[in-house]
Amino acid sequence: MLYQTCRQLITRSALAAWKSGAALHMPRKSLGTRQFSMGIDGYALVTGAGSGIGKACALAYAREGAAGVAFSDINVEAAIEAAKESERVAKNPRYRSLVIETDVSDQESVDRMIDLVVQTFPRLDYAVNSAGVGVETPAEVSEASIREFERFLKVNVTGTLLAVRAQSRVMKRQEPLNHGTDSLRTLGRGVITNMGSGNSYVATPHIVQYTASKHAVLGITRNAALDNAPYGIRVNCLCPSWVKGPMIDRAIAGNPSLADAIKRAVPMGRIAQPDEISDVVMFLSSPRSSYVTGAGWIVDGGATLQMHT
Ligand SMILES: NC(=O)c1ccc[n+]([C@@H]2O[C@H](COP(=O)([O-])OP(=O)(O)OC[C@H]3O[C@@H](n4cnc5c(N)ncnc54)[C@H](O)[C@@H]3O)[C@@H](O)[C@H]2O)c1
Repeated sequence: MLYQTCRQLITRSALAAWKSGAALHMPRKSLGTRQFSMGIDGYALVTGAGSGIGKACALAYAREGAAGVAFSDINVEAAIEAAKESERVAKNPRYRSLVIETDVSDQESVDRMIDLVVQTFPRLDYAVNSAGVGVETPAEVSEASIREFERFLKVNVTGTLLAVRAQSRVMKRQEPLNHGTDSLRTLGRGVITNMGSGNSYVATPHIVQYTASKHAVLGITRNAALDNAPYGIRVNCLCPSWVKGPMIDRAIAGNPSLADAIKRAVPMGRIAQPDEISDVVMFLSSPRSSYVTGAGWIVDGGATLQMHT
């Protein structure tokens, strides 16, 4: 049994040494990626899975070995395309994808989304709430558009709360999932990751609607983490700065100087790739982060470190 489990990890000479009873010192280069596996083998739900960060997270679950991923998005065509892509990259032979047309700002739509997940998958182990809207009307606070502010509250704030609420209800009802022999390092009843922003901590001129909504997402995360901790459900908030994808492409199209401004604002001098966000989400979804809850996890190339003078 041990041999079966380890055979893909160890070299032929190391295997011979193990069979002969010698101590097994595995050379560093013999460690396959499975050695560092995140232990992702359950069922995931991702909102905003049709594009950008949500799509990267949903595909990452499939690649890591999830048994099923639900692709939820208001743009159902985009979600279908992403789900098809996941079928091509999925590692788990039992893998199933599910597409759900959802408006996260609508309670009935979110409840229907959760019902479909529960009817299709035996469990809900990981949830990522990435559905969100981008700024359409940047303006100083004195000129802020209340219509746009309310759109951000509806989608980014109420949408996140509705999703977290429904996901928490499902996770609370299920048994904890155990990994390995260490009973403390388990997945628990589930993990929820909300998509915050560097703007969950700091402000950017002319986008009060975005800053307020992302501060609220961090607040929802912290309260949900506190309320869910007794049930073994972890809730964290991923806080990126700028990430390559359609949302930022649209912002740059509307303001071409933004591309250079991003390079100047990020100490690492470049925009993040979506995989650099989804990799951290995989860690936060894994028993490897079993003691991390209520965190605002900044992934910003150092953007929020500095004060501009
Ligand atoms: N891209 C960045 O630089 C960046 C940086 C920090 C935080 N974020 C946050 O990450 C999240 C995802 O951003 P992205 O860059 O992937 O954007 P994106 O525009 O590529 O994807 C957002 C997805 O959400 C979906 N969506 C929008 N409104 C919805 C609704 N009402 N119901 C369901 N789905 C809806 C869209 O159809 C789209 O597929 C957002 O919350 C965003 O604020 C993005």
